Amino acid sequence: MVLLDGKKTSSDLKDEIAIAVKQLKADGKKTPHLAAILVGTDGASMTYVNSKVKACELVGFNSTLIDLPESTSEEQLLHEIELLNNDTDIDGFIVQLPLPKHIDEQKVLMAVNPDKDVDGFHPVNVGKMALDLPTFLPATPYGILELLERYKVETSGKNVVVIGRSHIVGRPMSILLSQKRSAGNATVTLVHSLTKDIKAFTLNADIIVAALGIPEFLTGDMVKDGVTIIDVGITRVDDATRPRGYRIAGDVHFESVSKKAGYITPVPGGVGPMTIAMLLKNTLLACERR
Ligand code: GUN
Repeated sequence: MVLLDGKKTSSDLKDEIAIAVKQLKADGKKTPHLAAILVGTDGASMTYVNSKVKACELVGFNSTLIDLPESTSEEQLLHEIELLNNDTDIDGFIVQLPLPKHIDEQKVLMAVNPDKDVDGFHPVNVGKMALDLPTFLPATPYGILELLERYKVETSGKNVVVIGRSHIVGRPMSILLSQKRSAGNATVTLVHSLTKDIKAFTLNADIIVAALGIPEFLTGDMVKDGVTIIDVGITRVDDATRPRGYRIAGDVHFESVSKKAGYITPVPGGVGPMTIAMLLKNTLLACERR
């Protein structure tokens, strides 16, 4: 069993990005600048956004965190987005999801200038992705492709099962893995909460991407020997034995599945760090494009 080490791979990627930033600066070009909007005080979202800002510092980017209260109205948020759209120093920005219930997420994502949409969530960018046109790929699926490529996991002609149809992970992942590309050309099945017998599909899979958000859903009896496992889950589960009172659980029951897997991502230290590295890569691309 080989661990797909997202921590190490993302660190390599960040080193590569830092070198590119040094070169931009040496050439007298603009320093990449990422902004993030956070609305409210959701613990996990605050952790992610802070990690993103910290990663910017590490590679030499400029970063701006716009921290708004839970009570922010949709109109106020749209105004902040407009300011970032028009700010010539900002190369790209993200609005951390989920948003408070009184704000229409789709309306917000549509307001982001597609050229600054380094999350790749705007319908224009989703459309370009689906049509194999160059664009910002959503960071989590992009990170998974990068991990598979760097570990030389063969995807061409393989049976891939993606569990979960979210707009952020499952849906784009299923599209990307089926495309004519490196870390693509797979036969992809997307299963979800209304699929009749998920196990019947996973037992036949060469690669499984678990992105449904149910802790330890995928167990050893559901997979075949030699399978490649990508675990996207990051749920906080109460655990009184931990200093913080919780632990982070993946969507995969690691102990039983790792006994059969050829390759597997750990949680934490698998997909999570890759997501941040790919967001930086998209921001570098946005800066270079401008
Ligand atoms: N919430 C969970 N994942 C993501 C992500 O990749 N981008 C944003 N903006 N919010 C998220």
